[in-house]
Amino acid sequence: MHKISVAGTGYVGLVAGVCFAEVGHHVTCVDIDEQKINMLKQGISPIYETGLEELMQKNYVAGRLDFTTDYIHAYKDADAVFIGVGTPEQPDGSANLSYIATAARQIAETIEKDCLVVVKSTVPVGTNDKVEQFIKDFLVNNVKVEVASNPEFLAQGTAVRDTLEAARIIIGTDSKWAEEMLMKIYEPFNLPIVSVSRRSAEMIKYAANDFLALKISYMNDIANLCELVGADIQDVARGMSFDERIGSKFLNAGIGYGGSCFPKDTKALDYLARQNGYEIRTVKAAITVNNDQKTVLYRKASNRLITFDGLKVAVLGLTFKPGTDDLREAPSLENVPLLLDRGAMIYAYDPVGSDNFRQKYPESEYKITYVKSPEEALSGANVCFIFTEWDEIKAVKPENYKNQMRTPLVYDGRNIYGIEDMKDAGVEYYSIGRQA
Ligand code: UGA
Repeated sequence: MHKISVAGTGYVGLVAGVCFAEVGHHVTCVDIDEQKINMLKQGISPIYETGLEELMQKNYVAGRLDFTTDYIHAYKDADAVFIGVGTPEQPDGSANLSYIATAARQIAETIEKDCLVVVKSTVPVGTNDKVEQFIKDFLVNNVKVEVASNPEFLAQGTAVRDTLEAARIIIGTDSKWAEEMLMKIYEPFNLPIVSVSRRSAEMIKYAANDFLALKISYMNDIANLCELVGADIQDVARGMSFDERIGSKFLNAGIGYGGSCFPKDTKALDYLARQNGYEIRTVKAAITVNNDQKTVLYRKASNRLITFDGLKVAVLGLTFKPGTDDLREAPSLENVPLLLDRGAMIYAYDPVGSDNFRQKYPESEYKITYVKSPEEALSGANVCFIFTEWDEIKAVKPENYKNQMRTPLVYDGRNIYGIEDMKDAGVEYYSIGRQA
């Protein structure tokens, strides 16, 4: 078993650290945020992720997992240091690598024995070469250090399962020493390993994420056309899914993809292409379709209603998808400001996302009320928008819209209901890619 340190205790770093400990490695997770480290030591996870807290506590008690702000102590005798810090998007679409650089410099200045540095964060192709050079430039002791790429493919809400039962592990190395070390670290996971060069590994991450983003935008594009020609996107998707070359996953049309990955990674690949004198037309199209898709229901409702001024608008779902409290690039963040601008009074329900939304849109400054149940949001509402397919929202019956709303007018961005069911209940219902 290896002595592993992980830089960054966000989604990527924390989940990786906990899972390495779970398979038997000795892991120290490092973060500059003292408050976060104190929380982690008390067994409290700063992120909402199924099963994470239990595994964290179990491995902490077993002595295989520790948390610290003292990076010197954590890095100096580590066999491997995994970097899982953020690479936020900059205004021009490029990735901000300053957190990676800080971690790399701290590693260079502290390691006292041969060490493999593994970049887990999503970084533009070629970054690992630069990180290796950067570490070598700042190296204090005469030790061997190499950098490997090991992108992660976890989705929020299923991060632990996605790590422990990953479809594959991608390792990108440019030397036998690094490849063998990383293979050994991953051996106890007992999962398929794809070993490629560093640059290919970096590219796999973008290519995979952007392919999924493309798949969603493609279905949204087809959905919009289905509405115009009298077809039904769910039937179309079902018909497509039997072809194994297409597959049945990620064919759900909706109100656009959000989250911290697809929007960022599509823009980053577009930026990388432009930097290299190439225009990546497919990915650009996915971005354009997605931007338009987020407000497709707002535009439909604007056509149907004379005004939103003074209307009670129920908003069901704020997060970018169920199972997370994350609001990044969520369709709600595009639509709520538009509705507020047009004078709507919003009653918003989300099982876990309200506190985060409130920080951006406090009740004291906006005409928005955060309620504790879908029923409270619907009561007396003139119109309802569904932005996230939480189970709590899916459990609302068609009759509830009819009985609780003042006008049963529903715009569903997640195609939760059957068209006939809503019609039978007397609800005026609009969704994505289906007939009204
Ligand atoms: C995504 C990928 O699925 C992970 O494999 C990847 O590791 C991760 O990004 C990352 O790079 O870190 P995530 O953003 O957590 O994971 O969430 P997804 O479940 O992929 O959903 C992304 C968005 O696509 C959501 O807004 C969701 O509503 C939307 N979506 C997904 C659709 O509109 N239709 C679908 O059929 C599937």
